Amino acid sequence: MNDKVIIFDTTLRDGEQSPGASMTKDEKVRIARQLERLKVDVIEAGFAASSEGDFAAIAAVAAAVKDSVVCSLARANEKDITRASDALKQANAKRIHAFIATSPLHMAVKLRMSPEDVLEQAKRSIRFARNLASDVEFSAEDGYRSEIDFLARVVEAAISEGATTINIPDTVGYAIPELYGNFIHTLRSKVPNSDKAIWSVHCHNDLGMAVANSLAGVKIGGARQVECTINGLGERAGNTALEEVVMALRTRKDYFDLTCGIDATQIVPASKLVSQITGFVVQPNKAVVGANAFAHASGIHQDGILKARETYEIMRAEDVGWSTNKIVLGKLSGRNAFKQRLQDLGIAVESEEEMNEAFIRFKALADQKVDIFDEDIIAIMSDSAASEKAEHYQFISLSQHSETGVRPKSTITFRMGDQEVNSEAEGNGPVDASLNAIEAKAKSGAEQLLYSVNAITSGTQSQGEVTVRLAKGGRIVNGVGTDPDIIAASAKAYLSALNKLHDPSQAKLNAQMTP
Ligand code: KIV
Ligand code: ZN
Repeated sequence: MNDKVIIFDTTLRDGEQSPGASMTKDEKVRIARQLERLKVDVIEAGFAASSEGDFAAIAAVAAAVKDSVVCSLARANEKDITRASDALKQANAKRIHAFIATSPLHMAVKLRMSPEDVLEQAKRSIRFARNLASDVEFSAEDGYRSEIDFLARVVEAAISEGATTINIPDTVGYAIPELYGNFIHTLRSKVPNSDKAIWSVHCHNDLGMAVANSLAGVKIGGARQVECTINGLGERAGNTALEEVVMALRTRKDYFDLTCGIDATQIVPASKLVSQITGFVVQPNKAVVGANAFAHASGIHQDGILKARETYEIMRAEDVGWSTNKIVLGKLSGRNAFKQRLQDLGIAVESEEEMNEAFIRFKALADQKVDIFDEDIIAIMSDSAASEKAEHYQFISLSQHSETGVRPKSTITFRMGDQEVNSEAEGNGPVDASLNAIEAKAKSGAEQLLYSVNAITSGTQSQGEVTVRLAKGGRIVNGVGTDPDIIAASAKAYLSALNKLHDPSQAKLNAQMTP
């Protein structure tokens, strides 16, 4: 049997279905580029029929990505499949992913269809998709809770119609590793043409077992594709975490004896980018990508690590892209040193213009902050990618006063279109006062769903990274701002969110609003 596990990343589709994690077209392209650097085999860029915005985002990802297969989800009907195919027109390599539910509950209650009608629709849709693409995946939604003999008939028919990948999701996160692995194994044995397709697993994390279930699907069931997301992002408790699957396959190669094509040194940059764009903070003790994943606090552990790192470490931080958090650059560093550091961090700069703009930001930061860490550079590059085009709202300056017993006041100057505006307001705290001052002029009327602050590196000299999530007219956007001054970072984050609401080309309905 083939020993390569295909890594299918669905951060931009299933991950985006996480409430509040909706991404704009440009953000999807930035993440897709990073997924390509990570060398994922397949990028599921969205669900083309769900909205005009998602269609445009898939088309943009398809045009930008060269090395990975780009995929769109579609319900198993001709209209959705045609939309998926149209959105993928510019892809170097495209996949259409059609799904229909096969569990008794979903068929009776959600679809209101008989099992025979579901079987026919699955066949018809795969036949139709195969006329539009040679790479077609079929998913049996709620597959794990389906009646196995019926599911085997549906899968056999899908393969006969030309499906090249068969995915059996544990849609509701109900599975147990051994049972799920056995289910895939038994199902494959019941499908006479099972060797004509790649088998895939797709697990949700409701009981905290998505990664374990996926690995059992591979080891016991013989699946050779794992569907996963960066940081395990996804609906409810999330999906299978890509970084955990990849590092389990690598670290325990003695057990799995399988390979995958991922460049693991790109894992942490991918994790940080997804966290920054979605505002979903990674818990410190998260495996592989959590801030404490390689931190050793106890004296006994530290002593052991100093003697031989294998005493307490099964993976090396640098192998998954953690920098050693050393001071890399400062005020006196030149353009060449900056350029070299970007290369070392695996950050691609698309044009000389982007480089100039990033270097100006680096110099500005070095004026404010003595030591510049790798994390600061990653943040600078995220900011410069986000601000490539002239934005409607631009931060200029801010001053604020807060004192015990006195209501804080903030004065802010920012650009709104071609006007420079000054505004002053009070608030419960200095951040509230600053955002009130912006809102007094911008008058967006947007609802604030989230405000969070994170230190980019450790210690109080760190830059603050602020996320503001706003909702308006069925859209949800995340704005991110970084600055050593967290009040300024907050104002930048708010303005960044307003820019996304303002830009019609980024219009995208909340992923939960799929018709
Ligand atoms: O969880 C699920 O069943 C899915 C399918 C649409 C693949 O995401
Ligand atoms: Zn799913």
